[in-house]
Amino acid sequence: MGDQGALASPSEVEEGSWRTWGGRNSSWEELLPHVGQETSVLLTSQGRSSGRNLPLICRPWRLWQRTTLCFAGTRKSWRRSMFFLAVLVCLLVVYSLMESPHRSFMSSVLCSSLVRGRPPESVFQCGNHGNSSLHQHHQPPRSSENRLREDPKVLLFTETQYSRLGKAITEILVANRIKYKMEVFGKSLPVLTNLSKGKYGTVVFENFERYLQIDQWNRELLDKYLRDYNVGIVGFMPTHEETQVGAKLRGFPLFIHTNMALENASLNSDNPVLRLTRAGGNVSGNLPGTDWTVFVSDDPNYVPLEWACSSVPHYAQEKLVAAVLDKGAIDGIQRVVFGGGLEFWLHRLLFLDAISYLSMGRLSVSLDRYMLVDIDDIFVARKGIRMTAEDVTALLESQKRLQEMVPGWKFNLGFSGKYYQHGYPEENMGDRKLLEHVDDFWWFGHMWGHTQPHKLTPAGLEAQMQRNKQFAIDHGIPTDSGYSVAPHHSGVYPVHEPLYDAWKKVWNVRVTSSEEYPHLYPARLRRGFIHRNIMVLPRQTCGLFTHTIFINKYPGGRAVLDRSIHGGELFQSIVFNPISIFMTHLSNYGNDRLALYTFESVIKFIKCWTNLNLQTVPPLQLGEKYFHLYPEEKDPIWGDPCSDRRHMEIWSKNKTCEQLPKFLVIGPQKTGTTALYTFLTMHPAIVANYPSPETFEEIQFFNGKNYYKGIDWYMQFFPIPKNSSGKYLFEKSATYFEGEMVPKRVKSLLPNAKLVAIIIPPGRRAYSWYHHMRAHNDPTALQYSFYQVITATDSSPRQLRDLRNKCLNPGMYAKHIERWLDYFPASQLIIIDGEELRNDPVYIMNDLQKFLEIEPFYNYTEHLRYDKRKGFYCQVIEEDKTKCLGRGKGRIYPPMNESESKILKDFYQSYNVALEKLVTRLDYPVPGWLEDDLQ
Ligand code: A3P
Repeated sequence: MGDQGALASPSEVEEGSWRTWGGRNSSWEELLPHVGQETSVLLTSQGRSSGRNLPLICRPWRLWQRTTLCFAGTRKSWRRSMFFLAVLVCLLVVYSLMESPHRSFMSSVLCSSLVRGRPPESVFQCGNHGNSSLHQHHQPPRSSENRLREDPKVLLFTETQYSRLGKAITEILVANRIKYKMEVFGKSLPVLTNLSKGKYGTVVFENFERYLQIDQWNRELLDKYLRDYNVGIVGFMPTHEETQVGAKLRGFPLFIHTNMALENASLNSDNPVLRLTRAGGNVSGNLPGTDWTVFVSDDPNYVPLEWACSSVPHYAQEKLVAAVLDKGAIDGIQRVVFGGGLEFWLHRLLFLDAISYLSMGRLSVSLDRYMLVDIDDIFVARKGIRMTAEDVTALLESQKRLQEMVPGWKFNLGFSGKYYQHGYPEENMGDRKLLEHVDDFWWFGHMWGHTQPHKLTPAGLEAQMQRNKQFAIDHGIPTDSGYSVAPHHSGVYPVHEPLYDAWKKVWNVRVTSSEEYPHLYPARLRRGFIHRNIMVLPRQTCGLFTHTIFINKYPGGRAVLDRSIHGGELFQSIVFNPISIFMTHLSNYGNDRLALYTFESVIKFIKCWTNLNLQTVPPLQLGEKYFHLYPEEKDPIWGDPCSDRRHMEIWSKNKTCEQLPKFLVIGPQKTGTTALYTFLTMHPAIVANYPSPETFEEIQFFNGKNYYKGIDWYMQFFPIPKNSSGKYLFEKSATYFEGEMVPKRVKSLLPNAKLVAIIIPPGRRAYSWYHHMRAHNDPTALQYSFYQVITATDSSPRQLRDLRNKCLNPGMYAKHIERWLDYFPASQLIIIDGEELRNDPVYIMNDLQKFLEIEPFYNYTEHLRYDKRKGFYCQVIEEDKTKCLGRGKGRIYPPMNESESKILKDFYQSYNVALEKLVTRLDYPVPGWLEDDLQ
């Protein structure tokens, strides 16, 4: 990627504004007066290895060599050398003193000034100050709008499932939360309409030539859909093995030249496609790739969207069209065709605009962007890399400049009082100056020290926060922002409940931010959630960390940071996220003040190349905005902490995934789950959960409100591993089976768990459940007969309808099992025939042990015996004594009458057909009762 527009090249900035001595033609006389200064940098900055000062710090040996070589032989030079040596020796003595216990005294005496070079400044200037070229992509006429679903999608045709450009396209769609359906291009088209409603708002071809090659029948079908529903096509020209010059695009008055290397791109501001993108000037330098296609047409219906140049003499001076809009004059279908892929950052923006334009605005992202920059670790940083008073002035000045670009801009400062006034004198002045300007910033409380919350006891955690709050009160720092963050995201996610407790109690925290949910990478998938009324917002990465404090030491060099700013990762983070929170640190504002450089630069670049409306609001409002935009994210999905190394690092050492179950008995209710549960607990290696006081024995974590209590709550139902090592923990909650969200949640927390489901004739299950409800005095079940329940209609009273649904739904076995299979491989699921469990539990238990791979093998033959009185198998306690399940299991009630039986048989007919297919597919024998039911 080239440098952008009027942007001064990094080397110009370095040469012009910074003095670098190494390698220049400086005479020794020029160098000598600086020796003291150079050494003072070395001595006073305690590891401050600024890129600017680096040549000096790194070269005492070379200086010495030069001294001896250049001046040897003359008396005068000998004296100067000796003098120089003496100075060096003195300074070394001073330095060693400073390393001694007297260091702080010495440093305050000697280090009266921290020598710092001039930090880099944001010198980017936009090539286009005028026309902002903001186009609203108008909605189509109502008639056709109504025919599109409320929830429009992109239909994406890719070359293969894994093709590079296809992947890049889906990544942009995901990052911008645009729904899509991906189809690998093949012979047939997917269904385009649903009950006369169009399903797709824009069609994207990873390879535009595929569209041109579709057979006539399908092409007519697709084109008709596109015309009928006002939908356009985005296409990318593929790489061509053979270079084509002036080839005609099939069916269009458009000619192409392929395999071009291009440079210096610019946009046609007079183009209706531009909406988010602004024609910001010139992107100078080579564009990525050498396989561009350019377009040529003299038809006014083909409007250039992007121009570029070629250094090939034949094309010199020509503005080549690298992306084009077909206004649809020929066939009524509009198209945007790109001559290059998405490696070019500008195409990523244009792609979003093309989708918006071609969907008549139905697939548009908002142009509002909210940004918040946290400066974490205020007062924390080792001596020598903290902010001085000058740095604070620079921060305030930068804030003013930013306010001109982003109304209301304020940096958000997070402080740890413990380290206040812990720097060199100039740095301590910096601390004080920050407090003098307390009203110019937003503030949030951090920990008192910098300890990670998961390493503290709950009481220690609270005490740390209290102490920091007291510091804030003593120093006039506001304490009511409702925002906080944790060092290294510790305790935020994976959730450490004591952190949330202390946050609520001490600071009344209502919003925080983290990079860790669900995972750090890929960044485009970071999301928010709400836990115990605290909003956790996703945080983006800006490329600045505590250790990146000097531009010349930036990993990979300055060009890497500049690339991220000028169209790269940082720029795209802001463009693709309506709300961006960035974390920076105190040290990024001292030293080379890289944060000021970074944010001023990227905001200028955004203003230049986009029509985004940049804004900022305090964190609490930001949180409210976030969940207003994405209400579906409010509910968390707890992940498996052990599948993420970073999560493990910030998880309490007292917690372990060994305390989570290895398998679940998922139900449904009334199929024999209690018998199975009881038989399992007889096994010496199997340990069940502790009973829940709320739900009797079942925890019911994954299906209801308990899920919001978090995994710390869930784990307390299982013994800590040292008391159960080598054991197989499990739990049984029989309502998991039909819970809509359960498979997804289980997969996320227990991806390797095995699942045990039991099925019996669904009608019999419904009848047993009804009697169970009556036995538990459910008023509706007591009020209505079984017949009334199963024949209830949608006009029946609500309680009756609810009871009917609860009674009948779990028996739609195939539907529920398929949902589990959407998340789990069949190898992790066992389906037990409940009739067999009842009649031959020994066989079932032996089989189950094999499936669960549990050792040692437990011979149930000796431990289960049929009890005539109970009419069921029971646990053998002694030679002639058994222990059966309680009266609630194996109840006695009148048999179901024939008409009820018939109604249920009809009701479950289609579900049973699906079940028969399913069990056959999964290689299970078809249960006898299922065969009977289907006859
Ligand atoms: P009924 O009480 O209607 O006969 P769950 O434990 O899932 O609620 O299932 C209860 C059902 O388990 C009972 O329904 C009973 O038929 C069945 N069952 C299977 N084996 C059993 C056993 N060994 N003891 C008691 N009930 C058993």
